[in-house]
Amino acid sequence: MSQHILILAGDGIGPEIMAAAELVLARVNEKFALGYTWSHGLLGGAAIDAHGVPLPDVTLDAAKKADAVLLGAVGGPKWDTIERSIRPERGLLKIRSELNLFANLRPAILYPQLADASSLKPEIVAGLDILIVRELTGGIYFGQPRGIRTLENGEKQGFNTDVYAESEIKRIAKVAFNMAKLRGGKVCSIDKANVLEVTELWKQTVTDLAAAEYPEIQLSHMYVDNAAMQLVKNPKQFDVLVTGNLFGDILSDEAAMLTGSIGMLPSASLDEQGKGMYEPCHGSAPDIAGQNLANPLATILSVAMMLRYTFKQEVAAKAIETAVGAVLDQGLRTGDIMSAGMTKIGTQEMGEAVLKALA
Ligand code: NAD
Ligand code: IPM
Ligand code: MN
Repeated sequence: MSQHILILAGDGIGPEIMAAAELVLARVNEKFALGYTWSHGLLGGAAIDAHGVPLPDVTLDAAKKADAVLLGAVGGPKWDTIERSIRPERGLLKIRSELNLFANLRPAILYPQLADASSLKPEIVAGLDILIVRELTGGIYFGQPRGIRTLENGEKQGFNTDVYAESEIKRIAKVAFNMAKLRGGKVCSIDKANVLEVTELWKQTVTDLAAAEYPEIQLSHMYVDNAAMQLVKNPKQFDVLVTGNLFGDILSDEAAMLTGSIGMLPSASLDEQGKGMYEPCHGSAPDIAGQNLANPLATILSVAMMLRYTFKQEVAAKAIETAVGAVLDQGLRTGDIMSAGMTKIGTQEMGEAVLKALA
């Protein structure tokens, strides 16, 4: 039976960037005779509008049956005031959790053509190739208790719980160590162990695992505040970073800017078997939605990650990455990565340019 992909375009710029990515998917499917099929489903605000919930059962069932999921982005001002438990973002968190996608890989790679688009000096970012491994189904995003309660004096109090069990820490650390083996052999574990017990356990567990099973890995540790600083001071000191859900969310947006734009950062969210959901790291960008302004490259590069990690089609994955490089060589840029002397194009034109480069 042919392998099947579920596409969830989502909200805001989601449908625009996904249309561009779908063109590219169709082309590689044909060019490399992959024989994949795909279908579309609703997630986020689009699903709320149609079904009243951000993750309808029909979407979740289709996602469970599919071999891989490709996601655009969810959320937007239209749904920001509805009841918290059925907001678009909860749909995204639920699908991650239901599919057990605990390992989120967020590679921040600077295409040399974009050295001028980075907010850092070219000499600081030239050759940047780091991988953030973010735990995605635990920590403060999912910890109980959580909520907003009213205190005796009548004032409200919001609360969340950051929690990690050793088994959760071990499985994400293993992913980071195994990825590092294929790269520079270095892992930096990011914590706040000087303050938070949950990350004290994180640090100890990662240290013990490295000593027992990964003696060849060069493991270091850094507090998250320092890591945020080091990422803009000297990002090339890093190879693989491994961290919890919240720190990983924040540090990956920061790392995105080193590559020129968050519009360049793809991601893979994997379960223990390598099944995955693939999505850009950015959101639905309501400020530019519907204007053909969004950069579709993060989504297109997420297609490449899907080919690599779920389908083991390294040649096809590389072909997409090479085509993206070729388009950048031609001086074509969406607004977010625009710099002097380059040609500004829209979302759709960028998709078509990658398509042409693939031929
Ligand atoms: P965002 O990532 O949507 O946008 C931040 C800034 O980056 C905006 O100025 C936006 O225009 C720009 N940007 C983002 N993607 C871009 C692209 N492809 N090309 C060019 N510019 C791009 O983050 P936000 O504004 O904090 O959140 C907006 C909505 O998206 C919220 O509802 C949020 O919850 C949601 N969100 C969803 C996801 C997801 O679905 N994975 C991720 C992050 C945020
Ligand atoms: C991301 C997003 C999500 C997250 C939100 C929309 C739930 O910011 O994928 O980075 O915080 O994980
Ligand atoms: Mn985020």
